[in-house]
Amino acid sequence: MTRVLSGIQPTGEIHLGNYVGAVQHWVLDQHVHDSFFCVVDLHALTSEQDPALLRAKTLQMATFLLAGGLDPDVCTLFVQSHVPQHTELSWLLECVASYGELRRMTQFKDKTVAGDEGSARVGLFTYPVLMAADILAYQADRVPVGDDQRQHLELCRDLAIRFNTRYGDTFVVPEAAIPPVGARIMDLQDPTQKMSKSRSSPQGKILALEAPEVITRKIMRAMTDADNEVRFDRDAKPGVSNLLELLAVAGGGTTTDLATGYSGYGALKKDVAEAVVTYLEPVRTRYAELIEAPDHVLKVLDAGADKARSTAGPNLAKARAAMGLLPGSEMG
Ligand code: TYM
Repeated sequence: MTRVLSGIQPTGEIHLGNYVGAVQHWVLDQHVHDSFFCVVDLHALTSEQDPALLRAKTLQMATFLLAGGLDPDVCTLFVQSHVPQHTELSWLLECVASYGELRRMTQFKDKTVAGDEGSARVGLFTYPVLMAADILAYQADRVPVGDDQRQHLELCRDLAIRFNTRYGDTFVVPEAAIPPVGARIMDLQDPTQKMSKSRSSPQGKILALEAPEVITRKIMRAMTDADNEVRFDRDAKPGVSNLLELLAVAGGGTTTDLATGYSGYGALKKDVAEAVVTYLEPVRTRYAELIEAPDHVLKVLDAGADKARSTAGPNLAKARAAMGLLPGSEMG
């Protein structure tokens, strides 16, 4: 059976891009593949976090994932820091990764100020290695992510291949599963930039749990262009194309077919707003119920971590042995 793993950071509030590009595909994958999903709280520590808030947001993110349709009866949902095998494997992989390849990661370059790399957190630099450990610890075949994770997945594959070549066949080399539509939802106010938890302005991003009237207002005010011609062309018409992509994901149909039905932006925006509100409504309702039952969510996470540890443990043991670490009697 194909093994799936993916993760999401508990920072910021989940936005439409996260849901469309990743979470909705996890919900589909869980029914056909052996699926593991984690809230990557350790990755969140690469930027400044208030400790109490990080704890709360980790629980909120897990609650959101359940509200969005993850079913603990068919998939494994857990918190990254509850499974120590991730950090141990990360160290082993740091001894396989090179400084040069981590320096080329665009996320590190984007999140540091040029000339000021000296003050960047080391964790931000080694972030993609921990992400590779998340994936390889489960021998995942398939990693459903949005387009912005493409480079990290390439690195993960390179590390798996290098490890296998150097130390013998140990890891499955995973494939990124990037959806053809919705893999890069753009900022509503600056459609040349992706919708981002940290970078987008409040008007530029739609939060998945936002009130319908707020979602509608943001979409009606989305940046388009002056010619009022509805056509799907990401380069020439990024704003309109983003709206057509949202309509396709939330309401069905293909972007090019949908474009032929509109003679102006007003009607398009109205339909996009309606479709997105309808698409998110069930998640919002279910979240409101689940957030009242934190004990249930914590129980799900505990059971998920148990399963995750027992899956990752033997894979880590295999990697330790392959690298020549002497087994101790407690190592299992
Ligand atoms: P994160 O938390 O930034 O985002 C979670 C998922 O949402 C996708 N995404 C988008 N998709 C479409 N349009 C957008 N505008 C958009 N913005 C974000 C991301 O591609 C991602 O799939 N490094 C990862 C978390 C991670 C992980 C892993 C993922 C840690 N370990 C192992 C997969 C496997 C991250 O920061 O995602």
